[in-house]
Amino acid sequence: MVCESSLSEIHEGNDVLLYLDRKRTYLVKVEQEKSFHTHKGFVQLEELVGKQYGTRIASSMNIEFVALKPTLRDHIFKMQRKTQITYPKDISLILMFSDAGPGNRVVEAGTGTGALTTSLACHVRPTGHVYSYEVRTKFMESALKNLKRAGVSEYVTVKNKDITEGIDETEVDAVVLDLATPWLVIPHAYAALKGSGVLVSFSPTIDQVVKTVEALKENGFVAIETVECLMRGMQIERGKTRPQTLMTGHTGYITHARKALK
Ligand SMILES: C[S@@+](CC[C@H](N)C(=O)[O-])C[C@H]1O[C@@H](n2cnc3c(N)ncnc32)[C@H](O)[C@@H]1O
Repeated sequence: MVCESSLSEIHEGNDVLLYLDRKRTYLVKVEQEKSFHTHKGFVQLEELVGKQYGTRIASSMNIEFVALKPTLRDHIFKMQRKTQITYPKDISLILMFSDAGPGNRVVEAGTGTGALTTSLACHVRPTGHVYSYEVRTKFMESALKNLKRAGVSEYVTVKNKDITEGIDETEVDAVVLDLATPWLVIPHAYAALKGSGVLVSFSPTIDQVVKTVEALKENGFVAIETVECLMRGMQIERGKTRPQTLMTGHTGYITHARKALK
């Protein structure tokens, strides 16, 4: 399961990230009599049972892999994608702004691939819950599989509903949006949130942000702020250390605000 930080020994049924190098990593489930085949030979997964995470294992071609414990970020990047996902750099900020923590009840839309849903579930567990709205049945079904694979489905209720038509939940701690028309959700978010609750909205275009901020101002939200997160990787080599030439230039803008009572 994702977010099981206390686990140090590999058991049957656990996930392992087989690491060859930075570009070649494989998320596998450890099972008896199961081998994992790569172009560098196959790895007998049952040999990992009882070993510590971080152990080295040789493939049939004597190539060394490291059996890492998958992080939340690893799970997200390995998900079967049916939609664009929220990137980990943006998820990190969304988690901070939404203040998602154990026991919180969070409404989210749209579920999409479930990357952001998984991250929220990881933070509100074991006593909190995520209610995630997805209008497209195919995306919902695919996200359900990803949530199950990550082991967080018991902390999430996925609803095959259009969130612009209303939110069923009340007194929630946060509403988190990543969908094309967030401004249409703002009045429903206001009704669903507790006083002082947080709204966070991710949008790829500035036109969406302007409409969303206008709707927030008209609907009783305060402390409205929009940010963009640019993450630049570094190339580290003595005498040649500098920023990497290529970077993800744009993902989107994050707007966050608080509900003031009327
Ligand atoms: C960019 S994807 C979300 C990706 C998601 N944050 C993730 O990390 O995997 C946007 C999703 O919103 C859904 N959507 C769009 N409008 C919606 C609405 N009114 N109600 C519910 N879902 C909606 C789309 O079908 C799509 O799956």
